[in-house]
Amino acid sequence: MPARKPFVGGNWKMNLHTDDAVALAKSLADRFDATDKVDVVICPAFPYLAMVGKTLKDAGSGIKLGAQDAYFQADGAFTGEVSMAMLKDIGVDVVLTGHSERRHVINETDVLINAKTLAALEAGLEVILCIGEKIEQREAGQTHQINMAQLEYGLAGVTAEQMDRVTIAYEPVWAIGTGKTATPADAQEAHDRIRRCLKFGFEWGEAIGDKVRIQYGGSVKPGNAKELFGQADIDGGLIGGASLKADDFVAILEAAC
Ligand code: 13P
Repeated sequence: MPARKPFVGGNWKMNLHTDDAVALAKSLADRFDATDKVDVVICPAFPYLAMVGKTLKDAGSGIKLGAQDAYFQADGAFTGEVSMAMLKDIGVDVVLTGHSERRHVINETDVLINAKTLAALEAGLEVILCIGEKIEQREAGQTHQINMAQLEYGLAGVTAEQMDRVTIAYEPVWAIGTGKTATPADAQEAHDRIRRCLKFGFEWGEAIGDKVRIQYGGSVKPGNAKELFGQADIDGGLIGGASLKADDFVAILEAAC
Protein backbone atom coordinates (compact mmCIF):
# COMPACT_ATOMS: atom_id res chain seq x y z
CA MET A 1 0.00 0.00 0.00
CA PRO A 2 1.50 3.40 -0.90
CA ALA A 3 2.20 5.79 1.98
CA ARG A 4 -0.36 8.55 1.75
CA LYS A 5 0.65 11.99 3.00
CA PRO A 6 -2.07 13.25 5.35
CA PHE A 7 -4.16 16.15 4.11
CA VAL A 8 -6.06 18.45 6.47
CA GLY A 9 -8.43 21.20 5.36
CA GLY A 10 -9.93 24.07 7.26
CA ASN A 11 -13.36 24.93 5.84
CA TRP A 12 -14.19 28.33 7.28
CA LYS A 13 -17.70 28.26 5.75
CA MET A 14 -19.52 31.62 5.93
CA ASN A 15 -17.43 32.90 8.85
CA LEU A 16 -14.65 35.41 9.50
CA HIS A 17 -14.45 38.87 7.95
CA THR A 18 -11.34 40.75 6.79
CA ASP A 19 -9.45 41.25 10.05
CA ASP A 20 -10.20 37.84 11.52
CA ALA A 21 -9.54 35.98 8.27
CA VAL A 22 -6.17 37.64 7.73
CA ALA A 23 -5.19 37.27 11.39
CA LEU A 24 -6.04 33.57 11.41
CA ALA A 25 -4.14 32.91 8.18
CA LYS A 26 -1.12 34.80 9.52
CA SER A 27 -1.21 32.96 12.81
CA LEU A 28 -1.39 29.56 11.07
CA ALA A 29 1.45 30.50 8.74
CA ASP A 30 3.60 31.60 11.70
CA ARG A 31 2.80 28.64 13.89
CA PHE A 32 2.71 25.70 11.49
CA ASP A 33 5.56 24.96 9.15
CA ALA A 34 5.35 21.18 8.85
CA THR A 35 3.75 21.17 5.41
CA ASP A 36 6.40 18.60 4.47
CA LYS A 37 4.57 16.17 6.78
CA VAL A 38 0.97 17.11 6.14
CA ASP A 39 -0.70 18.95 3.28
CA VAL A 40 -2.84 21.79 4.58
CA VAL A 41 -5.48 23.92 2.90
CA ILE A 42 -7.62 26.72 4.30
CA CYS A 43 -10.86 27.72 2.60
CA PRO A 44 -12.09 31.25 3.37
CA ALA A 45 -15.27 32.73 1.93
CA PHE A 46 -14.96 34.16 -1.61
CA PRO A 47 -14.40 37.85 -0.72
CA TYR A 48 -11.36 36.98 1.38
CA LEU A 49 -9.65 34.45 -0.90
CA ALA A 50 -7.23 36.89 -2.50
CA MET A 51 -6.20 38.58 0.75
CA VAL A 52 -5.80 35.30 2.63
CA GLY A 53 -3.76 34.01 -0.32
CA LYS A 54 -1.54 37.09 -0.15
CA THR A 55 -1.13 36.67 3.60
CA LEU A 56 0.02 33.07 3.14
CA LYS A 57 2.33 34.02 0.30
CA ASP A 58 3.89 36.95 2.15
CA ALA A 59 4.54 34.68 5.11
CA GLY A 60 6.23 32.12 2.84
CA SER A 61 3.77 29.48 4.03
CA GLY A 62 3.25 26.12 2.34
CA ILE A 63 -0.42 26.19 3.36
CA LYS A 64 -2.63 25.98 0.28
CA LEU A 65 -5.54 28.23 -0.58
CA GLY A 66 -8.93 26.62 -1.11
CA ALA A 67 -12.36 27.76 -2.28
CA GLN A 68 -15.56 26.34 -0.83
CA ASP A 69 -17.36 26.17 -4.18
CA ALA A 70 -17.30 27.46 -7.77
CA TYR A 71 -19.37 27.13 -10.91
CA PHE A 72 -18.68 24.72 -13.76
CA GLN A 73 -19.09 27.10 -16.70
CA ALA A 74 -15.91 28.84 -17.85
CA ASP A 75 -17.42 32.34 -18.22
CA GLY A 76 -20.51 34.11 -19.47
CA ALA A 77 -23.98 35.04 -18.30
CA PHE A 78 -24.11 33.29 -14.92
CA THR A 79 -24.93 36.10 -12.52
CA GLY A 80 -23.46 35.64 -9.09
CA GLU A 81 -21.25 32.71 -9.99
CA VAL A 82 -17.47 32.36 -9.96
CA SER A 83 -15.57 30.16 -12.43
CA MET A 84 -12.73 27.74 -11.78
CA ALA A 85 -10.45 29.82 -14.03
CA MET A 86 -11.17 32.92 -11.92
CA LEU A 87 -10.17 31.03 -8.81
CA LYS A 88 -7.01 29.76 -10.46
CA ASP A 89 -6.27 33.31 -11.59
CA ILE A 90 -6.21 34.62 -8.01
CA GLY A 91 -4.01 31.80 -6.73
CA VAL A 92 -6.51 29.23 -5.49
CA ASP A 93 -5.09 25.68 -5.41
CA VAL A 94 -8.02 23.57 -4.23
CA VAL A 95 -11.80 23.66 -4.55
CA LEU A 96 -14.39 21.78 -2.51
CA THR A 97 -17.23 20.12 -4.41
CA GLY A 98 -20.33 18.44 -3.04
CA HIS A 99 -20.10 19.75 0.50
CA SER A 100 -23.16 18.58 2.43
CA GLU A 101 -24.30 22.15 2.99
CA ARG A 102 -24.31 22.68 -0.78
CA ARG A 103 -26.10 19.37 -1.32
CA HIS A 104 -28.70 19.76 1.41
CA VAL A 105 -29.05 23.51 2.06
CA ILE A 106 -28.45 24.86 -1.46
CA ASN A 107 -29.93 21.73 -3.10
CA GLU A 108 -27.08 20.93 -5.47
CA THR A 109 -27.57 17.71 -7.41
CA ASP A 110 -25.07 14.95 -8.11
CA VAL A 111 -25.10 16.01 -11.76
CA LEU A 112 -24.10 19.58 -10.89
CA ILE A 113 -21.47 18.36 -8.40
CA ASN A 114 -20.00 16.12 -11.09
CA ALA A 115 -19.89 19.04 -13.56
CA LYS A 116 -18.09 21.17 -10.97
CA THR A 117 -15.61 18.40 -10.17
CA LEU A 118 -14.78 17.91 -13.86
CA ALA A 119 -14.49 21.67 -14.46
CA ALA A 120 -12.15 22.14 -11.50
CA LEU A 121 -9.87 19.33 -12.69
CA GLU A 122 -9.97 20.64 -16.24
CA ALA A 123 -8.87 24.07 -14.92
CA GLY A 124 -5.89 22.46 -13.19
CA LEU A 125 -7.21 22.76 -9.64
CA GLU A 126 -7.18 20.10 -6.94
CA VAL A 127 -10.60 18.90 -5.79
CA ILE A 128 -11.90 17.72 -2.45
CA LEU A 129 -15.13 15.86 -3.27
CA CYS A 130 -17.30 15.65 -0.16
CA ILE A 131 -19.70 12.76 0.38
CA GLY A 132 -21.70 11.42 3.31
CA GLU A 133 -25.02 10.13 4.53
CA LYS A 134 -27.81 11.86 6.44
CA ILE A 135 -28.99 10.50 9.79
CA GLU A 136 -32.14 8.93 8.37
CA GLN A 137 -30.09 7.18 5.70
CA ARG A 138 -27.70 5.88 8.34
CA GLU A 139 -30.59 4.64 10.47
CA ALA A 140 -32.05 2.90 7.41
CA GLY A 141 -28.73 1.07 6.92
CA GLN A 142 -27.95 2.96 3.69
CA THR A 143 -24.63 4.58 4.63
CA HIS A 144 -22.51 2.63 2.17
CA GLN A 145 -25.03 2.85 -0.67
CA ILE A 146 -25.22 6.63 -0.31
CA ASN A 147 -21.44 6.96 -0.22
CA MET A 148 -21.01 4.68 -3.24
CA ALA A 149 -23.65 6.57 -5.23
CA GLN A 150 -22.15 9.98 -4.40
CA LEU A 151 -18.72 8.69 -5.38
CA GLU A 152 -19.90 7.15 -8.65
CA TYR A 153 -21.82 10.26 -9.69
CA GLY A 154 -19.24 12.71 -8.40
CA LEU A 155 -16.30 11.07 -10.14
CA ALA A 156 -17.99 10.06 -13.40
CA GLY A 157 -15.68 10.96 -16.28
CA VAL A 158 -12.63 11.73 -14.11
CA THR A 159 -9.50 10.24 -15.68
CA ALA A 160 -6.81 8.18 -13.98
CA GLU A 161 -4.33 11.06 -14.36
CA GLN A 162 -6.77 13.54 -12.85
CA MET A 163 -7.26 11.30 -9.82
CA ASP A 164 -3.83 12.50 -8.61
CA ARG A 165 -5.58 15.79 -7.81
CA VAL A 166 -8.66 14.34 -6.15
CA THR A 167 -9.23 13.87 -2.42
CA ILE A 168 -12.43 12.45 -0.96
CA ALA A 169 -13.87 13.89 2.24
CA TYR A 170 -16.23 11.56 4.06
CA GLU A 171 -18.44 13.80 6.15
CA PRO A 172 -21.46 12.09 7.69
CA VAL A 173 -24.06 14.85 7.67
CA TRP A 174 -25.25 14.07 11.20
CA ALA A 175 -21.72 14.69 12.53
CA ILE A 176 -21.21 18.12 10.95
CA GLY A 177 -21.34 20.95 13.47
CA THR A 178 -23.24 18.80 15.93
CA GLY A 179 -20.47 17.74 18.30
CA LYS A 180 -21.31 14.12 17.42
CA THR A 181 -18.34 12.38 15.85
CA ALA A 182 -18.37 8.98 14.21
CA THR A 183 -16.39 6.60 16.39
CA PRO A 184 -12.95 5.91 14.92
CA ALA A 185 -14.09 2.34 14.19
CA ASP A 186 -17.28 3.47 12.41
CA ALA A 187 -15.38 6.09 10.45
CA GLN A 188 -12.72 3.54 9.48
CA GLU A 189 -15.40 1.12 8.32
CA ALA A 190 -16.92 3.78 6.07
CA HIS A 191 -13.48 4.79 4.77
CA ASP A 192 -12.61 1.17 4.04
CA ARG A 193 -15.78 0.79 1.97
CA ILE A 194 -15.06 4.06 0.16
CA ARG A 195 -11.54 2.90 -0.62
CA ARG A 196 -12.80 -0.44 -1.93
CA CYS A 197 -15.18 1.43 -4.20
CA LEU A 198 -12.31 3.64 -5.43
CA LYS A 199 -10.16 0.55 -6.05
CA PHE A 200 -12.68 -1.77 -7.64
CA GLY A 201 -15.63 0.36 -8.76
CA PHE A 202 -13.88 2.42 -11.42
CA GLU A 203 -11.98 1.60 -14.55
CA TRP A 204 -8.79 3.30 -13.47
CA GLY A 205 -7.87 0.35 -11.24
CA GLU A 206 -6.73 -0.68 -7.84
CA ALA A 207 -3.42 1.19 -7.59
CA ILE A 208 -5.12 4.55 -7.98
CA GLY A 209 -7.75 3.70 -5.38
CA ASP A 210 -4.94 2.91 -2.96
CA LYS A 211 -3.33 6.32 -3.46
CA VAL A 212 -6.41 8.53 -3.08
CA ARG A 213 -6.57 10.35 0.22
CA ILE A 214 -9.80 10.11 2.18
CA GLN A 215 -10.38 12.79 4.80
CA TYR A 216 -12.84 12.44 7.66
CA GLY A 217 -15.01 15.43 8.54
CA GLY A 218 -17.61 16.04 11.23
CA SER A 219 -16.85 17.52 14.64
CA VAL A 220 -13.12 16.80 14.50
CA LYS A 221 -11.45 18.47 17.48
CA PRO A 222 -8.01 18.46 19.08
CA GLY A 223 -9.25 15.78 21.50
CA ASN A 224 -10.37 13.23 18.90
CA ALA A 225 -8.15 14.01 15.90
CA LYS A 226 -5.24 11.72 16.75
CA GLU A 227 -7.36 8.61 17.12
CA LEU A 228 -9.36 9.33 13.97
CA PHE A 229 -6.24 10.06 11.91
CA GLY A 230 -4.64 6.90 13.28
CA GLN A 231 -7.12 4.68 11.41
CA ALA A 232 -5.74 2.82 8.40
CA ASP A 233 -7.87 4.54 5.77
CA ILE A 234 -8.29 7.99 7.34
CA ASP A 235 -5.75 10.28 5.71
CA GLY A 236 -6.51 13.53 7.52
CA GLY A 237 -9.63 15.59 7.98
CA LEU A 238 -11.84 18.37 6.76
CA ILE A 239 -12.43 20.63 9.71
CA GLY A 240 -15.19 23.20 10.15
CA GLY A 241 -15.73 24.80 13.57
CA ALA A 242 -12.33 23.86 15.00
CA SER A 243 -10.53 25.41 12.01
CA LEU A 244 -11.71 28.87 13.06
CA LYS A 245 -9.38 28.96 16.08
CA ALA A 246 -5.63 28.86 15.51
CA ASP A 247 -4.94 26.89 18.71
CA ASP A 248 -7.42 24.16 17.82
CA PHE A 249 -6.50 23.92 14.16
CA VAL A 250 -2.75 23.81 14.88
CA ALA A 251 -3.38 21.05 17.45
CA ILE A 252 -5.34 19.11 14.81
CA LEU A 253 -2.57 19.63 12.24
CA GLU A 254 -0.02 18.36 14.75
CA ALA A 255 -2.18 15.30 15.36
CA ALA A 256 -1.88 14.52 11.64
CA CYS A 257 1.94 14.79 11.58
P1 13P B 1 -17.46 20.69 11.72
O1 13P B 1 -15.99 20.36 11.94
O2 13P B 1 -17.84 22.04 12.26
O3 13P B 1 -18.34 19.59 12.19
O4 13P B 1 -17.66 20.81 10.13
C1 13P B 1 -17.20 19.82 9.31
C2 13P B 1 -17.30 20.27 7.91
O5 13P B 1 -18.39 20.43 7.36
C3 13P B 1 -16.07 20.57 7.19
O6 13P B 1 -16.31 20.75 5.83
